[in-house]
Amino acid sequence: MNPRTDIEVLTEAEAKAELADLANQLAAANDAYHREDAPQISDAEYDALKQRNAAIEARFPQLVREDSPSLQVGAVPLAGFGKITHSIPMLSLANAFDSDDIREFDTSVRKFLGLGPEADLSYTAEPKIDGLSLSLRYENGKLIEAATRGDGRVGENVTANARTIDDIPTELDDAPKVLEVRGEVYMSHADFEALNKRQAARSEKTFANPRNAAAGSLRQLDAGITKSRPLRFFAYAWGSVSDPLATTQMAAIERLRKLGFRTNPATRLCSGPAEMLANYEEIEEQRATLGYDIDGVVYKVNDLGLQGRLGFRSTTPRWAIAHKFPAELAWTTLEGIDIQVGRTGALSPVARLSPVTVGGVVVSNATLHNEDYIAGLDSKGGEIRGGKDIRVGDWVQVYRAGDVIPKVADVDLAKRPEDSKPYDFPTKCPECGSEAPREPGDAVRRCSGGLICPAQAVEKLKHFVSRAAFDIDGLGAKQVEQFYSDGWIAEPADIFTLQSRYGDGLQQLKNREGWGEKSAKALFDAIEDKRKIPLRRFLFGLGIRHVGEAASNLIALHYGEWAILDQAMRDAAPKRGAAWDDLLGIDGVGVVMAGSLVGAFAQEAERASIERLAAELEILPATRSDVTGSPVAGKTVVFTGALELMTRAEAKARAERLGAKVAGSVSAKTDILIAGPRAGSKATKAAELGIEILDEAAWLALLDGA
Ligand code: IVH
Repeated sequence: MNPRTDIEVLTEAEAKAELADLANQLAAANDAYHREDAPQISDAEYDALKQRNAAIEARFPQLVREDSPSLQVGAVPLAGFGKITHSIPMLSLANAFDSDDIREFDTSVRKFLGLGPEADLSYTAEPKIDGLSLSLRYENGKLIEAATRGDGRVGENVTANARTIDDIPTELDDAPKVLEVRGEVYMSHADFEALNKRQAARSEKTFANPRNAAAGSLRQLDAGITKSRPLRFFAYAWGSVSDPLATTQMAAIERLRKLGFRTNPATRLCSGPAEMLANYEEIEEQRATLGYDIDGVVYKVNDLGLQGRLGFRSTTPRWAIAHKFPAELAWTTLEGIDIQVGRTGALSPVARLSPVTVGGVVVSNATLHNEDYIAGLDSKGGEIRGGKDIRVGDWVQVYRAGDVIPKVADVDLAKRPEDSKPYDFPTKCPECGSEAPREPGDAVRRCSGGLICPAQAVEKLKHFVSRAAFDIDGLGAKQVEQFYSDGWIAEPADIFTLQSRYGDGLQQLKNREGWGEKSAKALFDAIEDKRKIPLRRFLFGLGIRHVGEAASNLIALHYGEWAILDQAMRDAAPKRGAAWDDLLGIDGVGVVMAGSLVGAFAQEAERASIERLAAELEILPATRSDVTGSPVAGKTVVFTGALELMTRAEAKARAERLGAKVAGSVSAKTDILIAGPRAGSKATKAAELGIEILDEAAWLALLDGA
């Protein structure tokens, strides 16, 4: 099997794509094994895939799929539940790990809202339940739908199962006409242990932890099984509501409680970071005696009006944060160090450990981050672990922070074997032999082989076909590896010439192992289907370092069309001038990302590869079609002068949320200029061009109700 990217350096988008791919591979393997009685992969390979899946899920719990292989009970994968599109996406929370992060959270909220340090700003604090989230839709007081989170946008219809949970009322008195209640389904420690005993006594599958047990129990096609499992539910949030529940978070939770939901009794109101941190300590002390798993404390801005103004980033609200509990620890032997090469060439050292249980999970791999980390240095050359290096043969401390991939934290020098030697970090790529230099300021060594490095090329191709990129049905990681190693494809463009290059590609493919007439035809159809591709997917599919899914979307919306984006990248290549400034003007694009993007387009081989790909495709212009009913959707607006009713960041975020494009300078394409006091040349220019000019109040009036 080809090396995989070290889980620690996976981006969220990569992780998501890989989880999708692993779900496919494991489902196919299950199918082959159970339905066709013809296993395609060995048990060991199967286990390795499952473990990788679990490790990625451990680091990105918010990405756990509803069809996750780790949630599958019994051997045969569950056939589908119906799908439900959430009226308002179910998002995850940004994480904080220490008190500085909490103070920074408060500072950034104030900054966004333009509030000084003295202004009152209170937060709720409540335990973060370690279960799975569920959205319950009530219409006219009746429970009509229950959906799991799924990918945040579309979840699974588990209505019948939810109805069997005692904590979930099926009828509400005095509720808004439409009310979506959101919260966490979980299992108590006592119920979990009793369930596992029952399961073991019947020789049925036992669960690794209460969270898995809750997920496995909710996701049963036979609601009768769910009914027999002791699930519980805490309400802590809401989706669509026809009438606001209250004006504060605290009061809204109280309203939910009065409507008949269980809400967490440990929920408190805090006046600021000091009280939030005190509350964190209090909840941490209660942790062991609560009787159910929690993995941190969630803080939310109490004023719902302010929550509305703060709004959301691409996957998390600006008005809330999760303060996670620290790690669990164990000691074991470091048996070896493997080097994995990722999509962007990063050489990532992975510790091979003598298996050890950490917080209920068996760990046999852990990240060692990079060369400096092994040597006992931080990114600035300062000492970590008192300067102790890490060597093969060492007795090392491993930790997991709840949902984070295991790390090697410390080493016990007293137990170091006498003949041990410092680890020699490779300076050449173990996959292709190219030099792997370290650029100034970069913590990692990167293989310089580019597309000639098989590891990079394959990882790039896997990324290209992944769910959030080109999402080609029937072309997953496994097929990409196979086609690559057989010399069928070396870069993305090759996928689209595959059929023609092999004369009759269909004939050739169907004769290959694992392929039949039907699957081969389906693959070529799926490839043809993706010749028309939205600009944002195209851009994300290129797999350019630092340019993730959300950024690709923003960049695509900004430029609109491929030809314009392409030209802009050429113009911005010197990293100065109008095109460069324009790129940096996109909210969410910083210097590092912009540099990486422009650099990729300027690099000769990469540019040629992009051009070959573009020549095969029809790249569809980006649209803001997802924002409907907004008076400014699709409009280009420019802010100038002083804003008095909100900060620039808030104004920009709000405009973008409503589907407007916020530009930095006035041109013929500008639709509206919002001019505050002391507006200068931009206002003059807009007046010359006959562009609509609004003051801040008129702008807000225009948005009112949107
Ligand atoms: S609020 C817009 N409150 O943690 C975000 N989430 O890591 C609304 N969770 O997906 C979520 N306890 O499944 C919230 N008291 C709590 C929570 C909580 C557990 C889960 C939830 C969410 C995940 C994010």
